[in-house]
Amino acid sequence: MTRPRQAVRPSNDTAWAAVILGAAGLVGALWVGGALALVIVGGQPRGYLLAGVRALAHMSRPAAAWGEMAPGPGAYWTVTAVVVAAAVVLAVGARRLFVATPSRVDVDRLPGTATPREIRHTCSPRAIRKRGRHLRPSLERPAPRDVGFRVGVARGIETWTSVEDSVVVLGAARSGKDRYLVVNVILDAPGAVIATSTRPDNIAQTIAARKARGPVAVFDPQHLAGDSQVGLRWSLTRGCEKPMTAMIRAAGLAAGSGKGVDDGSFWQGQTEAALRALLMAAALDHRGAADLYRWSLTPAAVQDAIAILDTNPRAPAGWATALNAVADSDPRQRDSVWLGVRQSLAALGDPDVLASVSPGPGEEFDPEAFIRDTGTLYLVGTATGAGAAANLVAAFIEDIVETARHLAAESPAARLDPPITMMLNEIGNLAPLPSLPTLMSEGGGTGICTWAILQSLAQARHKWGEQAASTLWDAATAKIILGGGSDAADMRDLVFVIGDRDDVTWAETRSHDGTRSRSSSLRRIPILDSGPLRTLPDGTAVLLLRSMPPAVIRMRSWMHRKEVESAGRPAVADTGHPPGFAPRKGKSVDIGEMQEHDDVTCVTLASGVTLREVTN
Ligand SMILES: Nc1ncnc2c1ncn2[C@@H]1O[C@H](COP(=O)(O)OP(=O)(O)OP(=O)(O)O)[C@@H](O)[C@H]1O
Ligand SMILES: [Mg+2]
Repeated sequence: MTRPRQAVRPSNDTAWAAVILGAAGLVGALWVGGALALVIVGGQPRGYLLAGVRALAHMSRPAAAWGEMAPGPGAYWTVTAVVVAAAVVLAVGARRLFVATPSRVDVDRLPGTATPREIRHTCSPRAIRKRGRHLRPSLERPAPRDVGFRVGVARGIETWTSVEDSVVVLGAARSGKDRYLVVNVILDAPGAVIATSTRPDNIAQTIAARKARGPVAVFDPQHLAGDSQVGLRWSLTRGCEKPMTAMIRAAGLAAGSGKGVDDGSFWQGQTEAALRALLMAAALDHRGAADLYRWSLTPAAVQDAIAILDTNPRAPAGWATALNAVADSDPRQRDSVWLGVRQSLAALGDPDVLASVSPGPGEEFDPEAFIRDTGTLYLVGTATGAGAAANLVAAFIEDIVETARHLAAESPAARLDPPITMMLNEIGNLAPLPSLPTLMSEGGGTGICTWAILQSLAQARHKWGEQAASTLWDAATAKIILGGGSDAADMRDLVFVIGDRDDVTWAETRSHDGTRSRSSSLRRIPILDSGPLRTLPDGTAVLLLRSMPPAVIRMRSWMHRKEVESAGRPAVADTGHPPGFAPRKGKSVDIGEMQEHDDVTCVTLASGVTLREVTN
């Protein structure tokens, strides 16, 4: 077990005191050794204090130093060596006991952190089970895994978060967020899972296990997981005949479009207003994403959409006028608004991305059925680079969240059962999901369990803005902080949130007449200061759960899960492509059956294409 140490450099005075004490100890040990040798042969040690040292000058006749009968040199020095060795061992032991222990920070038993009683009361398997009936009304006797996630062990007790908790995980790059938390949560989720990422590694680590629970699909418009991973086509205009859906979709697409400009929220609002009218027009006239893209290129092309909204009786009153107003407005304002529209749909310029949001007949993704069947949907995209599809991913997530909310509202206890897990990994590197702060604060009550994985609070502030980021942070009922952070403002905030504890310092004073007195002073110090927080050992994190005092948890890597270890090798590849998904050109529609025969893994896609991978 690695423990952070506080380096303690001795002062000059301390060093001198150590030298004097050491020398005195050695003189004493030499005297005791010699005296003991004398006693053994029947003599009486009467030599003065330095006799033992003087014997060193008479190695072959130590009796000369004592002036009386003494044993031969062999016996004399053997006994002396044993005594000196024993003295050294005692001195080292005493130093460890009195000096070394207080200089260490034992993160597992930090003063001020949650006591075993508090942990047992708040987040032990028993505590989680107690809330089970309320969280999963459909189950007679829910087990902890039906209603929560095991996140680690604190003070020897398993610690769990419940599916009702909204969780924020903070950890620097490569600090082990995926290894210790994300993969475990995806594998353990009791219901449907929506997992985002900017890389395909989570898919690789979990797809095989999730296939056993329900349908699995991958939305990867940028082909980040290899060409054969374009598993799903989602209609960008799905449900946009309804004004509310069109508005939510537009908000997802326009997320972040006003960033970095003056009056950003005004321009973002204008962009959203134009986008929702375009989405509505496309949905009412059964147009696809290609038409949407064409309309987004120039305001001149939008007359088509205005005509649809004008003539279709299902179009809400005023939407055509609103779109017309933008198209006819002052050229500078019109171009600024249209720049936002164009940027929001820019990814559609890539034919592959366009194909992923243009399903053919019968290919449409149905989020409702997917949630009911406890499916797993992986969304992969980036916010930067050519064809960045983060906006599309954001709009897709908003669609699923909206569907989940409707399903929850129709459910008996107004809560999804089983709950849906939104594993928003790398969310700070994707588009700023407009609904995330609300989702964090309200989702838990409706059976939408949200995990937002961030590299730092600074990343959240940059993405969502100061206010929304602090709402997001406040709303998280569980906060898990891994080591490695280095943003000074973040560290100060975290040290503050983790809290203080009492620290008693003793001081000893000596008065003129030689009498000593001891006094104590009480002060407040941080439970975990920024140094130990930054250098938290690998696999360790601080858990701030509801109102429980902070707990330091030891997490478990997904590679040490029983089912993975008993398989003798990771059930799926650690990184890179999932078994059977070697990058290959060609489009597929859905991920179908996976079979493993000895060294060969075969995946038959719904399109009929079979992919093979030789694993050994
Ligand atoms: N299968 C594996 N075997 C051994 N080490 C691994 C494995 N997978 C990941 N690691 C290591 O574990 C560490 C944490 O990786 P992980 O992907 O969990 O970090 P992360 O916090 O999610 O990083 P990022 O912010 O970049 O996503 C890294 O140093 C990585 O190299
Ligand atoms: Mg990661």
